[in-house]
Amino acid sequence: MAKDSLERFVEKVEASWGPLSTELIAVVRDEMEKLVKTPTSEKWMGDIINDEPEDRDLWRNPKDPKYGRMLLVHTEATGRYRPPHDHGASWVIYGMVRGEVDMGTWIRVQEPDGKFNLVKRELNRLRPGQVKVFLPGDIHDTRTLVGPATILRFTERDLIREERETRRLTRYIQQDGVWVERKPQPVAH
Ligand SMILES: [Fe+2]
Repeated sequence: MAKDSLERFVEKVEASWGPLSTELIAVVRDEMEKLVKTPTSEKWMGDIINDEPEDRDLWRNPKDPKYGRMLLVHTEATGRYRPPHDHGASWVIYGMVRGEVDMGTWIRVQEPDGKFNLVKRELNRLRPGQVKVFLPGDIHDTRTLVGPATILRFTERDLIREERETRRLTRYIQQDGVWVERKPQPVAH
C-alpha cells in the first residue's frame, strides 16, 4: 500500500535527524509545509478535521515514546488565547491546516534590578498552509481568530516533561498590566 503523507513526513524527518541546525529546521519546515496540505481523503487528516480533538498525538519517536520528539494536533476555538510562553529546551514547528491564528513573538528584556519586561516583537497571522518555527528560548502567544483552527505541532521533545519535570518551560500571565512568570502548576501524580 502506498505510504500516506504522515508516514512520508516521519520518514523524511527521521532520515535527516540530528542536533538542531539550520539544515534540520529547513527539512522539517519543508516537510511540515507539505503535511498541512494533506487532503481529507487521507484518513488521519479526515479524522482530525471531523473529530476536532483538543489535542491528539499523531506520532511519537518509538525509541523514546515518553520524552522524545513528537507530532501532535491541536484544535482551537475562535477567541482562544494562549498567553506568552517558551518551550523549555525544545524547538517547535507549527503548521496551519485550517482556521486563522495570530502568533505574536515576544522578547524578555532583563532590567538591571532583576526585574524583566516582556515586549512583543511582531505579530504573524497564520493561515492554512503556513508554518512557523520557534527555536529554544523563543517566546510566543497565540490567539485564534477563526476557529475551529487545526494546528499541527512538531516538537523536538515532549513539552509536558519540559513543563512538569525539568521545569524549563516558562509561562507568563499579566498582573495589573505587568507580565510575570506564572508559577508552575502542581505535578499530577
Ligand atoms: Fe507554544
